[in-house]
Amino acid sequence: MSTQIILPRMLQVGENASHATPTILASLGCRRPLIITDKMMVQLGYAANVQAVLAEQGMQADIFDDTVPEPTVASIQAGVTKISEGDYDSIIALGGGSPIDSAKAISILGKFGGEMRDYKFPRVVTESGLPIVAIPTTAGTGSEVTKVTIITDETTDEKMLCMGVGFMPIAALVDFSLTLSVPARTTADTGIDALTHAMEAYVSKKASLYSDTQALEAMRLIAPNLRRVYHDGADKEAREAMMLGSTLAGIAFSNASVALVHGMSRPIGAAFHVPHGLSNAMLLPAVTEYSIPAASERYADCARAMGVASQQDSDEAANAKLVAELKALNEELKVPTPEEFGIDKEHFMSLLDTMAEQALASGSPNNNPRVPSAEEVIELYKELWA
Ligand SMILES: [Fe+2]
Repeated sequence: MSTQIILPRMLQVGENASHATPTILASLGCRRPLIITDKMMVQLGYAANVQAVLAEQGMQADIFDDTVPEPTVASIQAGVTKISEGDYDSIIALGGGSPIDSAKAISILGKFGGEMRDYKFPRVVTESGLPIVAIPTTAGTGSEVTKVTIITDETTDEKMLCMGVGFMPIAALVDFSLTLSVPARTTADTGIDALTHAMEAYVSKKASLYSDTQALEAMRLIAPNLRRVYHDGADKEAREAMMLGSTLAGIAFSNASVALVHGMSRPIGAAFHVPHGLSNAMLLPAVTEYSIPAASERYADCARAMGVASQQDSDEAANAKLVAELKALNEELKVPTPEEFGIDKEHFMSLLDTMAEQALASGSPNNNPRVPSAEEVIELYKELWA
């Protein structure tokens, strides 16, 4: 049996990697990029920096900054309109997961037309849209190295999963210096998201020897550095490890899959507008505890890679330490419970059936080592209120 691995054609990794943008565009034969980003990146001057680096090489780049967190069909349409009005030959996706996810959708819709819904899974999008050079500014969603984008249909609150090689950026510029000023809350949420990617890829039923190597290394890089970057955003060594760890975790899950945490996380995000990493963080300890019996060795490997258990620990001891660590991490990184986040308990409980149905329909729970029934998913959601 073999596994297909899909990656960007080019990775530029390290301090100031983003300065390679013009060289990379030139190597692709592109001269007229549109920068797809958000207002925060414009405000922080990051978009202007990319424009300046390009201008030095005689390239002019326009900016589209109307992407939104948890991108919607309408927000994508605005980008498609912008693309169709210019003579752009490429896209620079600059920001966290949302601008990069938006860019992926705009790249395909901008070239081939149609509705976002036409491209959702189970369709596999193999067409090549406008080439995307992705520059992530968080560590992270891993979106710069994944063939997946998630677009919300705001009329139904459905999070549409879209995937295929067509959504893979052609280049990813993995520049940790862009993460040095990311605020602590976002650092924590996106960092736990990256850790979740690595763990879920490793325990996934679709894991392969290749994805395992990426996932384990990602855990080794992320776990010891997550607290460091949360407490001291300027810690360059820790930021560098987190950024590379996040990219490797992205490679791992894009070529294996995510599992139950992500499956259950998306409906919470859609219904209550909880940031993606935060709803993952809320779920990670309980879902891990639930799943351990079906993959005890694999979770023990995670504990050892994360440095919370030793080689001498039995699997059982390592797994107890893993669950304790995930709970302690949430506490130290001040991850709120749904109640503390301000979610109305009655409203949450009234949506349990719908959320469980959406979670299972996403397909991700089927990749979990322990596949839950709808009743079990509901029980896990309820545990967040225990
Ligand atoms: Fe994620």
